[in-house]
Amino acid sequence: MNDNDILVLGATGKTGRRVVRGLRAEGLDPRAASRSGDVRFEWERADTWKPALTGVRAVYLVAHDDPAFAPPFVDLAVAAGVRRFVVLSGRGIEASRAAGYSLGMAEAERAVTASGAEWTLLRPNNFNQNFDEDDLWREPLRRGRIALPIGDVPEPFIDVEDIAEIAVSALTTDRHVGEVYELSGADDLSWRGAVEVIAGAAGREIRYEELTPEQYRTELAAGGVPPVFIDVLDGLFALHRAGHTAQLADGVRRALGREPVPFADWAARAAAAGAWT
Ligand SMILES: NC(=O)c1ccc[n+]([C@@H]2O[C@H](COP(=O)([O-])OP(=O)(O)OC[C@H]3O[C@@H](n4cnc5c(N)ncnc54)[C@H](OP(=O)(O)O)[C@@H]3O)[C@@H](O)[C@H]2O)c1
Repeated sequence: MNDNDILVLGATGKTGRRVVRGLRAEGLDPRAASRSGDVRFEWERADTWKPALTGVRAVYLVAHDDPAFAPPFVDLAVAAGVRRFVVLSGRGIEASRAAGYSLGMAEAERAVTASGAEWTLLRPNNFNQNFDEDDLWREPLRRGRIALPIGDVPEPFIDVEDIAEIAVSALTTDRHVGEVYELSGADDLSWRGAVEVIAGAAGREIRYEELTPEQYRTELAAGGVPPVFIDVLDGLFALHRAGHTAQLADGVRRALGREPVPFADWAARAAAAGAWT
């Protein structure tokens, strides 16, 4: 094993940059790849794939939304000598795929499990970090009001640090080969409850408001969100309302032998870093 034979896609993103950091902490020198990463990788430009893959043994795969890209990429990777894939997917992936969403992740799962290489599938709930690292929710929280169409259906949000720790272990040890990890956080929270925890951690008033799906679409459009993204959010919230991601899962405990990071611990950390002030 060479110290630079792990390719991390989405390496500037919420999970990928933590996977890179975790691998570096183990003394490895992963290839941190994306359009703006250290290693140039662009899904829409297949000529960037092979240079990124040359000499690579294992790939952390963050798929493109377009399901056309993962199968030829996985084929090329295996032909180039890749022996292991760790795929970032999502909770409720079967229901999402059936509804016509998350097709890129679903196709990445299918391609790696049919590839003959070793694989691990990570299926996390919504990330805690959507609230502090993604403007879609961070900005409304900073303004003191977040409005969503979700009711009291629970969502056991997960700390991305847990996902990255599992990915690092799956890339560097043999313990997770062939595992499908359903990854939730530790808390049986509603979205409203999550906002209350965040408000408490931030030490300020943040109002949660319930919208109908139609009102939500209207608010997103008024905020300049592109129609195609509005359709995706609408579809994903419909899946959440149907309860496809609502149950606590044991993946973090199975993979790491410990409980997931509590939501309140993450919120305290994010608030201390100034996320909502
Ligand atoms: N957020 C959630 O709650 C959640 C839950 C479950 C699953 N997921 C899945 O997680 C995935 C996103 O992962 P993430 O949150 O770690 O990443 P992220 O923060 O959304 O960042 C996306 C990453 O992909 C790279 N990227 C974007 N477009 C690209 C392209 N055309 N070619 C190559 N690289 C590209 C970006 O870097 P550059 O801009 O430098 O290219 C960046 O590194 C999605 O598939 C999502 O469905 C998310």
